[in-house]
Amino acid sequence: MMLSLCLLTSGGLQAQKGANIESAQEKKIQTLVKKMTLEEKVGLLHANSKFYVSGVQRLGIPEWALSDGPHGVRAEINRHNWFYAGWTNDSSTCFPPGTALAASWNPALARERGIVLGEEARFRKKDVLLGPGINIIRSPLCGRNFEYLSEDPFLISSMAVPYIQALQSKDVAASVKHYLANNQEENRFKVDVSVSERALREIYLPGFKAAITEGGALTVMAAYNKFRGDWCSENEYLDRQILRKELGFTGVLMTDWDAAHSTVKAALAGLDLEMGTDIKDYNQWYFANPLIQAVKEGKVPLSVVDEKVSNILRVMMKTKMVGDKTREQGSMNTSAHQLAAYHSAAEAVVLLQNQDKVLPLDFSKLKSIAVIGDNATRKHTSGGLSSEIKPLYEITPLEALTKKFGNSLKINIAKGYEKQSGFFEGRNTGQEDTKKVDWKLIDEAVEAAKRSDVSIIFGGLNHDFDSESFDRQDMKLPYGQETLIREVVKANPKTIVVIIAGSPLELAGIVSCAPSIVWAWYGGMEAGNAVADVLSGKVNPSGKLPFTLPVSLEQSPAHALGNFPGRDLKVNYQEDILVGYRWFETKNITPQFHFGYGLSYTTFELSGFNTDKQVYGKNETIHSRFTVKNNGSCSGAEVAQLYMSQPSCSVMRPKKELKGFEKVFLNPGESKTIELSLRVSDLAFYDEIRKGWIVEPGDFILHLGNSSANICQTIKISVQ
Ligand code: BGC
Repeated sequence: MMLSLCLLTSGGLQAQKGANIESAQEKKIQTLVKKMTLEEKVGLLHANSKFYVSGVQRLGIPEWALSDGPHGVRAEINRHNWFYAGWTNDSSTCFPPGTALAASWNPALARERGIVLGEEARFRKKDVLLGPGINIIRSPLCGRNFEYLSEDPFLISSMAVPYIQALQSKDVAASVKHYLANNQEENRFKVDVSVSERALREIYLPGFKAAITEGGALTVMAAYNKFRGDWCSENEYLDRQILRKELGFTGVLMTDWDAAHSTVKAALAGLDLEMGTDIKDYNQWYFANPLIQAVKEGKVPLSVVDEKVSNILRVMMKTKMVGDKTREQGSMNTSAHQLAAYHSAAEAVVLLQNQDKVLPLDFSKLKSIAVIGDNATRKHTSGGLSSEIKPLYEITPLEALTKKFGNSLKINIAKGYEKQSGFFEGRNTGQEDTKKVDWKLIDEAVEAAKRSDVSIIFGGLNHDFDSESFDRQDMKLPYGQETLIREVVKANPKTIVVIIAGSPLELAGIVSCAPSIVWAWYGGMEAGNAVADVLSGKVNPSGKLPFTLPVSLEQSPAHALGNFPGRDLKVNYQEDILVGYRWFETKNITPQFHFGYGLSYTTFELSGFNTDKQVYGKNETIHSRFTVKNNGSCSGAEVAQLYMSQPSCSVMRPKKELKGFEKVFLNPGESKTIELSLRVSDLAFYDEIRKGWIVEPGDFILHLGNSSANICQTIKISVQ
């Protein structure tokens, strides 16, 4: 009692201290705003170069430095063109991109990443890191899927919040992007997206809402596209109504690079900062001279400009840029940072198939291995466009295998397939020409496989496919890889396929022949070490798919309904709330691999699932408990997943919705009791008629499992 009183008092004191700091900051902001001329104010509202915004020197307001993320601090770009500046001290730590982070299902890794990115951004004297990118993975084809996290808003929120909190604890502002519905790259500068209000609230908005209200994101980046007829950067509904009024966002809303379209409309809708406009003279940008003019003509009230300046200053103060000597100085490329990148890569790896326990490999007993495929030697970190990183180093799979096992066994190397695609001036120059089967390379690979105890094929995609600015054209494995894999397996049944890719691929053709399939994502600078350690069993795979892997493109909702990428520059998200596994579950379609799926070298048991009560009131919290046991002979981690459904409701509800998860690390024979709580209010759906979240009384089913499909136990509860 005494102790809780003390805690309460110290919590209360801290809150009071926080409120005092905020009110002092607000006073300081007002004082500064009063001292500024209109020209100085407007100077804060548009870039003065590619990634910098002017300050006001005479008032001690520094220049603002922004940098791309989201999985590393991007190398320095020239101030006035898109070429790299050629610095020699801007190589950084590179994490695996977003899908890999989400595949770890481990929010602690998101936190660790945020810390590292914050430290490196500060060391590079950056104030804002442009990430995380949290758009929903709506179609398997979206070129930026690899950068994003998941098809599920709960998983996205669970990762984005700790990432943002940690990054900002290092005095660097996050910029959660791309707000909103930037779910395709095709026509991203023009497309007009229609989404029902329910799908907006249940699917597309929750990640942003969590990033702002729980993560405290200090900046938001408005997407390129239109939303319900208006550009996201000047969308009254998204920017004023939802962002400011409903979510209470008091930070900076900036454009994506070259996403501004107007002065008055954007100013009134709530945009603060214009970035990347493709006009040489910065004074001619929408939020430069034209804004000064608009204020003078009374089209934009001065109070609106003051609001924007205040938002900028608020973010500067919260990141200790103005008048605070305690700002984080940061550090770069420390071994702790590299270890964090390694952990992130290793925990992301998903074991999809492992017949006859081909994996893990006991390399000490092998005399030879064949290492086949372009991705065995390809470095990926410097691809993908704005998220590309110049890493201090990048370990390829072949390098890692050679370093770890090359002394004790023979490695027979074969290319297997040729990268036929290319990249020129920001455009992919030939996805359509990537289907060629190169029999000469296949024959060489078959020969290498025959001469080896085990063959490992490193295939998948590369950033000619997974990239900003265009979408893929189909979901197939390019470069004749299916044929290669089939032929190699025929030559050596002990074949492991490692897929390196950031978005769904058709795998039926290899699932039927390859005994073992590992999905390793783009693994960042430590990619090779991570995958080699999974293959050898040093690391037990514990990743789970953050998206559904359909059998074919036609299975997936947007494509089944024929509304990707839209027509006449309009796209209507007809699948509504049935995105990803919500669609597959509700429509009883069996994909190749389910959302949340992933195997381990050990086996787990989930049991004893119960809740504290059976009947709940609307304001209560459901406390569920269960036990996870490691039944096998090696340590590992299982991701226990809690889904919810409401079988009978006045509106359609998906058959399953993820409401909680926990990654549990266990030694052989060990078990742990896990508690997962969810508020009854989390069971709500968005009611378009009543314009609010409704929990309709009745029965709900809680499903406990280790994928959206593999449910071990269910419980029925009722809400009164
Ligand atoms: C991308 C953003 C990125 C910006 C700056 C844009 O093309 O959409 O994600 O932060 O460029 O590089």
